[in-house]
Amino acid sequence: VIISAEEEDLIKFKDYQIKYLLGDNTVEVSGVGTKMKLSQLKLALDYKKTITMIDLNSGKYNKGITNKTNLYVKTFLELRQQLSGQLRTAYVPTMGNLHEGHLSLMRMARQYGDPVVASIFVNPLQFGPNEDFDKYPRTLEEDIAKLEDLRDVYVLFAPTLKEIYPEPQSFSVQTPDNLGNILEGEARPGFFEGVSTVLMKFFSCVQPKVAVFGKKDYQQLMVVRQMCRQFQLPVEIVAHETVRDEHGLALSSRNRYLSDDEKAEAISLYNTLTHMEARL
Ligand code: PAF
Repeated sequence: VIISAEEEDLIKFKDYQIKYLLGDNTVEVSGVGTKMKLSQLKLALDYKKTITMIDLNSGKYNKGITNKTNLYVKTFLELRQQLSGQLRTAYVPTMGNLHEGHLSLMRMARQYGDPVVASIFVNPLQFGPNEDFDKYPRTLEEDIAKLEDLRDVYVLFAPTLKEIYPEPQSFSVQTPDNLGNILEGEARPGFFEGVSTVLMKFFSCVQPKVAVFGKKDYQQLMVVRQMCRQFQLPVEIVAHETVRDEHGLALSSRNRYLSDDEKAEAISLYNTLTHMEARL
C-alpha cells in the first residue's frame, strides 16, 4: 500500500505491511493498531530510520524497524552529526567479531535507550607487546550482517586506527592500583589504562545516557563504573549477565585460542563455582 496523506493525518498501522514512499527510498513499516501522524512518521524515518510503534489498545511497545540497514560511520564527525540532539543514546562498545554475547548486550541497550550505538574498534592501547593485537579476529563484514539482522542498533561506529589515534596518545586515564593493577591488571600491565583511555574518548564522542557492559569482564565493569563516577561522566553503566554456550562456557572471541582440554577446564571451573554457590 502506498500511503498518500496530509502531514497532519493520523495513519493507523493495521495488521499488514505498508510500503511508504519517501523520496527515492521505499521504506517498509509493519505494526498492529498503531496511530501516528504522517509528519511524525516522516520525521522518524528521516531522522532515525527506526520507529517504535506503540499499540494504543494495550500500550505495549511494538518495536517496528523500518529500515534494516544500519548506518555505518567511520569518523567522529559523522557520528556526532548522526547523534546530535539525542539525549537517550544507549551505547555498546566492542572489539568486533560479534557473537551472541555482544548481540544480547545490544538487545539490552535497546531497552534502556534509543538510539542504540555500537562501536567496533580493536584498541592497540589495551594489548601488551606479546599479546594478540595482530591476530585478534577482525570480521567487519560478518559483524555488519549480524547487526542488520538484529535490527536493534541504529549506528555502527567502526573507526580506523588513525581516526582514534591521529597522533601518539600521550594523555591517558590512570587506573587506581587497587583496582587496575590487581588480578587481570597484574597479569596484563597497562590493560585497564588502555581500556579506560579509549572509553573516555568514545564516551566523550557518543555522549551516551547508558552504556552496557558484560559481567564476563567483571573487573573491566568495575573499572569503568569507578572511572565514570570519579570523572562524573553523565553515563549510567548497566551490567549484562554473562552469556554462555550450552556447556556453560562463557562466549568470548578468544575462545578460539583454547584447546579442547582448556575448554573442558573452563567449563568445569564454572560448574564447580556454581555448585559451591548453590551449597552456600
Ligand atoms: O571489552 C571489550 O571488548 C573492550 O575492552 C572495550 C570495552 C570495547 C574497550 O576497547
